[in-house]
Amino acid sequence: MKILSVTSEIFPLIKTGGLADVTGSLPKALNALNVDTTTIVPGYPKVMAQLKSAMPLLTFDDLLGERACLLHTRVEGLSLFVLDAPSLYDRPGGPYVDEHGIDHHDNWKRFAVLSLAAAEIANGVLQGWVPDLVHTHDWQSALTSVYMRERGCKTPVVLTIHNLAFQGQYSAGLLGELRLSPRAYSLDQLEYFGDISFLKGGLQTADAITTVSPTYAREILTPRFGMGLDGVLNARVAVLRGIVNGIDLEIWDPATDPYLPRNYDVGSLRRKRDNRTALQHRFGLDPSCKGPVFSAVSRLTWQKGFDMFADTADEVIGNGGQVIVFGQGDKDIEQALINTAARHPGQMAVHVGYDEPTAHLIHGGSDAIVQPSRFEPCGLTQLYALRYGCVPVVSRTGGLSETIIDANDAAMSARVATGFQFHPVTTDGLRLALRRAMHAFQEPKMWARLQNQGMKAKFSWERSAQQYAAVYANLVRKAGNAAF
Ligand code: ADP
Ligand code: GLC
Repeated sequence: MKILSVTSEIFPLIKTGGLADVTGSLPKALNALNVDTTTIVPGYPKVMAQLKSAMPLLTFDDLLGERACLLHTRVEGLSLFVLDAPSLYDRPGGPYVDEHGIDHHDNWKRFAVLSLAAAEIANGVLQGWVPDLVHTHDWQSALTSVYMRERGCKTPVVLTIHNLAFQGQYSAGLLGELRLSPRAYSLDQLEYFGDISFLKGGLQTADAITTVSPTYAREILTPRFGMGLDGVLNARVAVLRGIVNGIDLEIWDPATDPYLPRNYDVGSLRRKRDNRTALQHRFGLDPSCKGPVFSAVSRLTWQKGFDMFADTADEVIGNGGQVIVFGQGDKDIEQALINTAARHPGQMAVHVGYDEPTAHLIHGGSDAIVQPSRFEPCGLTQLYALRYGCVPVVSRTGGLSETIIDANDAAMSARVATGFQFHPVTTDGLRLALRRAMHAFQEPKMWARLQNQGMKAKFSWERSAQQYAAVYANLVRKAGNAAF
C-alpha cells in the first residue's frame, strides 16, 4: 500500500513540536507492515540545507500563482517529496513564524500550496507514482482533501488532528485566491462563522478522522475541548477515532543516546546520577541538593499550564527540590517563570530556547518531568520521561490520562504505577501532585519502583501503527469496491 503523508514538519528535518516526531517516526513503523509512506513537506531553508542529494521530479508552474519544484529524496529511512517554492518558503524564521516570532503574513497561501501540490499528486500528476491513500495532519494540510474532491479525485483521505487549537481560520475573501469554487464555501465544507476554516474543510471532506489518543477523541466532542468544532466532530463521529502516539525507541534510548554524558538502562539506573550532576552544572544549580530535580521541556503556552507551575515552584524549592524549565512560548508565561527563578538562585533555572540535545539531557538527568497541560491531545514528553526513568507529574487530560498510571494505592500494590496525575487541572491540583511526588522521592524504594515500572511500560509504535494500517486498509478496500 502506498501512502502520501502531507505535513508542515517532520523530524529530523524540521521540528517545532510533537507533530514532527509523529510524522517522522510513524512511516518507519508502518514500513514493517508493508505500508510504504512518502511524505511531502515544504522546502524551508532548514530542509533544503539538509538535502544531500535530491532528484527533481517536476515543476509546478502555477500553484496559486507560485512556481514550485518537486524534489524526491531519502533521509534516514524516510522517503520525501520536498516542495521547493522559494517565493513561499525561502525566508528567515520557522515554519510558521518569522524571525520576530510573528506569523508569516501569507501562511494561508504557504499551506494551501502544500495541500494543492499534494492533491495534484493524489490526482496523478506524477507519472509512475500514485498513492492509494492520502494522510493529512492538522490544518496546514487539511485543504488537501478539499482540493482533491474539487478535482473529482476519490482517493481515500485520513486526517489526523494533533491539536484542535490551531485551525487555519481566514477571511472568506480569500476563496478566490485559493481558487476554490463558491461551493466550497458552504456549511458542509469550509464555512466557519462567516470565515473559512482550513481544518473544518478537512474534517468535512476526509474519509476518516483520527486524533492522537482515544481520550482526546472523546473530549473534543464536548464544547469545553471542541474549540468551536465540536458540532462538526459530533456530526462526523462515525468516522472519528483515537490512536495513541508511539515514540521512536532508537532516537529516545538512554542506553545509546549520544547527548547523555552517561548511558544507562533499567538495569543500571544508578548511572543516571552522573547525568543529573551534569544537568545541574549546565543549568547553574547547586549539585549538592539531595531533593528531586523537577524539569519541564515544553512549549510555554496556556495549553501546557506552565503559568501554574510558576506559582507552585516556590513550594517545591522550599521543600528541598530543584526546578528546571526549558522551552519557549508566551512572553508572559516565560516572564512569570523567570521571576520565580530569580527568587531561587542555584535552585531553579529557566532557559528560554529550543534545542534537541538539551531536551535529551534534561530527560537523562532529571528525577521528575512536569506536564500540567490544560488539554493535551497526546503528549510525547511524558513518554520520553518514562523511557528515561523520570517520573512524570501530569494533569489528567487527553493522552496524559491514558499513558501515565497514577501512583495510588491500588496501582502501587498492583505494581503498575508510573507517575502522578492530578485533577482538577488547577494550581492547587498541581501543588498537591508535586507534594505527593516529593514524599515519594523520600522513599527510595517506592521511587525506584515507579522508575522501573515506567521504563518497562510499552510505548513503541507497534500497536498504534497496526491501528493506522487497519484504518488505511479498510478505506482502500472500500474505495476499491466502489471503483469496481
Ligand atoms: P506539542 O507537540 O504539543 O508541543 P508534545 O509533547 O507532543 O507537545 O511534543 C513536544 C516535542 O517537542 C517533544 O519532542 C519535545 O521534546 C520537544 N520540545 C518541546 N520544547 C522543546 C525545546 N525547548 N527544545 C527542544 N525540544 C523541545
Ligand atoms: C500536538 C499536541 C500533542 C501531540 C502532538 C503529536 O502538538 O499538542 O499533544 O503529542 O501534537 O501528535
